[in-house]
Amino acid sequence: MSEDNSSRHAVDVSEAQIAVHWREEAYFSPSNRFIAQANLTDPGVFERFSLDKFPECFKEFADLLDWSKYWETTLDASNPPFWRWFVGGRINACHNCVDRHLAKHKNKTAIHFVPEPESEAVQHLTYQELFVRVNELAALLRDFCGLKAGDRVTLHMPMVAELPITMLACARLGVIHSQVFSGFSGKACGSRISDSESRVLITMDAYHRAGQLLDHKEKADIAVVAAAEDGHRVDKVLIWQRYPGKTSSPTKLVPGRDVVINELLATYRGQRVDPVQLPAEAPLFLMYTSGTTGRPKGCQHSIGGYLAYVTWTSKYIQDIHPEDVYWCMADIGWITGHSYIVYGPLALAASSVVFEGVPTHPDAGRPWRIAESLDVNIFHTSPTAIRALRRNGPDEPTKYQHHFKHMTTVGEPIEPEVWKWYHRVVGKGEAVIVDTWWQTETGGFLCSTVPGIHPMKPGSAGPGIPGIHPVIYDDEGVELPIGSGRAGNICIRNPWPGAFQTIWKDPERYVRQYYARYCRDPNSKDWRDWPYLAGDGAVQAADGYYRILGRIDDVINVAGHRLGTKEIESAALLVPEVVEAAVVPVADEIKGKVPDLYVSLKPGLAASAEIANKISASVVSEIGAIARPRHVIIVPDMPKTRSGKIMRRVLAAISNGQDPGDVSTLANPEVVDTIKGLAK
Ligand code: WTA
Repeated sequence: MSEDNSSRHAVDVSEAQIAVHWREEAYFSPSNRFIAQANLTDPGVFERFSLDKFPECFKEFADLLDWSKYWETTLDASNPPFWRWFVGGRINACHNCVDRHLAKHKNKTAIHFVPEPESEAVQHLTYQELFVRVNELAALLRDFCGLKAGDRVTLHMPMVAELPITMLACARLGVIHSQVFSGFSGKACGSRISDSESRVLITMDAYHRAGQLLDHKEKADIAVVAAAEDGHRVDKVLIWQRYPGKTSSPTKLVPGRDVVINELLATYRGQRVDPVQLPAEAPLFLMYTSGTTGRPKGCQHSIGGYLAYVTWTSKYIQDIHPEDVYWCMADIGWITGHSYIVYGPLALAASSVVFEGVPTHPDAGRPWRIAESLDVNIFHTSPTAIRALRRNGPDEPTKYQHHFKHMTTVGEPIEPEVWKWYHRVVGKGEAVIVDTWWQTETGGFLCSTVPGIHPMKPGSAGPGIPGIHPVIYDDEGVELPIGSGRAGNICIRNPWPGAFQTIWKDPERYVRQYYARYCRDPNSKDWRDWPYLAGDGAVQAADGYYRILGRIDDVINVAGHRLGTKEIESAALLVPEVVEAAVVPVADEIKGKVPDLYVSLKPGLAASAEIANKISASVVSEIGAIARPRHVIIVPDMPKTRSGKIMRRVLAAISNGQDPGDVSTLANPEVVDTIKGLAK
């Protein structure tokens, strides 16, 4: 049995198990006004994308793009589960997101950059300006760094216009970018640099977050050291200045290694670089994410399949028209930002907003002021942000003259009460809402209502989108019938163009973790035998809508950010006093879930606030502040089975104020009451 499958059995608690189950909700209908303008209103689309039309139906996706050489084979599925889409085609992602729009849209805003300080003016970058800046940077990356197609570059950049510019400059050259969320620590960045073997790190000296100008350059220095500890050398660190011409970080430049990009760019003024046309299956980027085992894994996404997928879904699920102003409040450091701030919207020539700051800073009216002033009409965010905005300013949206035709929620299950506030107050009852369920691995949406076709149901994502055929299996691999009311493991029956191609340098883990579980025959060459395991629990209602319950593995979804419990535990174990560590998810009113960290210490050591703080600091330095445990609870011993396994289920029950159930079969049942007392 595979390592990941067996680790599944070792997990005693899953988010699904402690998920709150809510009752069936009534439907909400999209307005006639929305339907009248929607890109997709023909229910016949589902017939067009039925399984018997697979895979040729996906031609419609590819045809939204410009191909320098048109592809020959829609899907080469001869080597499952390594799917190759649009084989024979050659394409460049940057050309599709920038150059091809110049003829009609060169004067249109591509990116509205909204700095966090309200005193700073919004920057509006036209498609022409984007073209110029991307070309100059591509020339620098090629000529100064010697980068070429297939090389990897790590980006550790905040939410600034330079981030999409850098991504597109890489894409222009066929250089594979790996953007690491700016909130991740220098060490976390370093391990991603070494795994991807990037010789170049691109970062920014500082950025604004919740009223502070944070020193970000210091993380680059830590990252380079961390990579060196893995035996990997970084040759160049390119640093954007948050304020060109001014240094905003006290951390000094390292001579011979560090270069200020905006200064060096002067040498490349006016240069043009032809987009490098690459095979459709060449990688576009890596996105590291947490999984069931310790180390984050680099999900590899293709140029052709990925771009076709995010473009189609942006057009028909996000309902983006060229005249729309679209704002996705996610961070580009996550997959949502890659697919639905940068690649999808720009491939459609939309205007996409990049916001540097925190939505509730300086107050919960900030997003609505931005929406009003830029006349944003499509808005996209996470349940965590919606919950925070609702708590901090339940009436704020009513004070502003913004009007959304469309809103998205993504990343976590949304409670129906929160959904209704989003609809009634933020959306003023006018906007349609799509609750989109998907993952880093899937490139784009999997389940959602089609906004011009389906009614909405608060708390439910909806059916599979056109071309996606989900199925729920129980643990034995038996399909749960529609409307059974039973929870199981949601899978996708068929490959789709947005699916990641492999885990960087670890194809075995890719097969094991996503396809081995329900594979009908490991030797089969038929894609029908290889359902994709998403790693979420779900129920399907009688109307076909899916409700996602949460992870079935040891991943915790904190404020929509995916964290591996194993990563947090490993960080705790780096503290010399700690001998055992166990992380459990705790329900949180705003963030959905937060981690509680239980630890036991070396014999003879007494618990102290100092040790607890040291453990917490280790988690922040290894991963980042987003992983900081709610509580570090130092216990005399972990609750264990007779075979010595830590019973996380018991710890999770205690942390969530629930009854841990029958603990009499534990090796040390007496410890449970002690832990209950400590966790209070
Ligand atoms: C969860 C984010 C409920 C799910 C795009 C998934 C959701 C994980 C939803 C992926 C949703 C995402 N409703 N849960 N609409 N969307 N999730 O890779 O557990 O950061 O497996 O991708 O987020 O997180 P990731």
